Amino acid sequence: MSDQVLIFDTSLRDGEQALAASLSFKEKLQIALTLEKLGVDVMEVGFPISSPGDFESVKNIASIIKNSTVCGLARALEKDIDAAYQALKDAANYRIHCFIATSDIHVKEKLHKDFDAIVDMAVKAIKYARNRAPDVEFSCEDAGRTPIDHLCRIVEAAIDAGAQTINIPDTVGYTLPYEFGSIIETLFNRVPNIDKARISVHCHNDLGMATANSLSAVLKGARQIECTVNGIGERAGNCSLEEVVMAMKTRSSYMNVHTNINCKEIAHASQIVSQICNMPVPANKAIVGANAFSHSSGIHQDGVLKNRDTYEIITPESVGFNTNNLNLTARSGRHVIAHRLSLLGYKEGSYDLDNVYTRFKELADLKGQVFDYDLEALLFFSQIQEEPEQFKLEYLTVLSGGKNVIPTASLKMRIGDEVVSYATTGNGPVDAVYQAIYHLTGYADDIKLEKYDIKSKGEGKDALGQVDIIVNYKGKVFHGMGLATDIIQSSAFAMIHACNSIYRSNLIALEKQKHHDIEFVNKSCELGNKP
Ligand code: KIV
Ligand code: ZN
Repeated sequence: MSDQVLIFDTSLRDGEQALAASLSFKEKLQIALTLEKLGVDVMEVGFPISSPGDFESVKNIASIIKNSTVCGLARALEKDIDAAYQALKDAANYRIHCFIATSDIHVKEKLHKDFDAIVDMAVKAIKYARNRAPDVEFSCEDAGRTPIDHLCRIVEAAIDAGAQTINIPDTVGYTLPYEFGSIIETLFNRVPNIDKARISVHCHNDLGMATANSLSAVLKGARQIECTVNGIGERAGNCSLEEVVMAMKTRSSYMNVHTNINCKEIAHASQIVSQICNMPVPANKAIVGANAFSHSSGIHQDGVLKNRDTYEIITPESVGFNTNNLNLTARSGRHVIAHRLSLLGYKEGSYDLDNVYTRFKELADLKGQVFDYDLEALLFFSQIQEEPEQFKLEYLTVLSGGKNVIPTASLKMRIGDEVVSYATTGNGPVDAVYQAIYHLTGYADDIKLEKYDIKSKGEGKDALGQVDIIVNYKGKVFHGMGLATDIIQSSAFAMIHACNSIYRSNLIALEKQKHHDIEFVNKSCELGNKP
């Protein structure tokens, strides 16, 4: 019988902290529900002490997720552990994940301490956390560069203090597969109480070794891998979930391990994370890239036609890619929606098709094309109160083009319960629209467009223009996405999407007053920056 390797997903913590714009609660919840469907054993969904927004979203996700353990990150400090506990305590299953840096450079240069003090802090924090949580994980940040004697010492002390999972991160993606495997092997050989804990690994991809290092650790006895969907995460990212899972599945007879991941959900999870995080998947990305299963050379094509196994070690179907490419638009009928939902795993009868279809039509009118993740959002959020959409576009007309014509936009918007309109000029049609939106939302003095990107979605005359923007509002960045056949309209939708996120973020800032007992750390803290 093969051993199980637990999959600990940190897309919503390590992944999210590296995004240009942070996600709204609704976006995070949709990712969390997708991860639950994917079958991750543990999902790390935030760092509660880092901000009121993180605290609230960890708390809300923890109250909804039932089939995965929900985890929150904390430095080895009582106030962090208290915040994590407050955010997690209503979950069906929860874990507090404490960490402290252990490498010489981090201990001396970042924390200004000596190693004895670090061991002391770790032990105190783990004991404190164990008094609040049934399940505690401890991480030795920068373990990959930690002297092995120090690593053995702190791992032994952490297990004695009650940590059930010990995580060995290669925080800066420095080690090589053989070397990282040897670190794990040494821990198994030298730490006397090692059998009392599960050994986990958390590899970053700075040298492109994250997957190889994680697998090498599993071969030496690690039984939890920390990873993210599409490998998103700090700098070059984290170990990619789909790569390690499919490697362990494809090479199970060599590795003698298995996971609980529902592999047919991989393509779907990848698409959801990519769309919501605005992080496109490179075409040549293993497992989930657009070219991962396409054969270009004549010799390969010939081989595949004779027998797919000549050049294909996994099939696209095994990770959930299907050949269904029907666009869902306002013209799609109820049976198409029911069929697409059944492909996504929702049996007819398990949801109210009339209700979903009515809301689908409204969304299709608004967006043009509806994607699988939108459709799922209609299901997911039918029971959950929608976040308020403060700003809504009611009417837009733009005058531009031709000689001596000054681009002019006239806009009507619903703001809360009120309908307001405004017309103005700009140095181009999109700029005119944006000036009008800035004026109507009241964000004109503080908002700056930092990035504007347009691409085509779909083919031929049905193709839609997708606009992605990044705006900076009072030093914080927000993402907006808009989709329509008319690119000026997509541009307007993208800006209104970003403005709604700004509005929600302002509401969350007000929420902070509710938690005056928690001292949120934001960017700076006495133990160094957010990990
Ligand atoms: O990379 C890292 O060391 C981390 C820890 C907090 C686990 O993200
Ligand atoms: Zn990390």
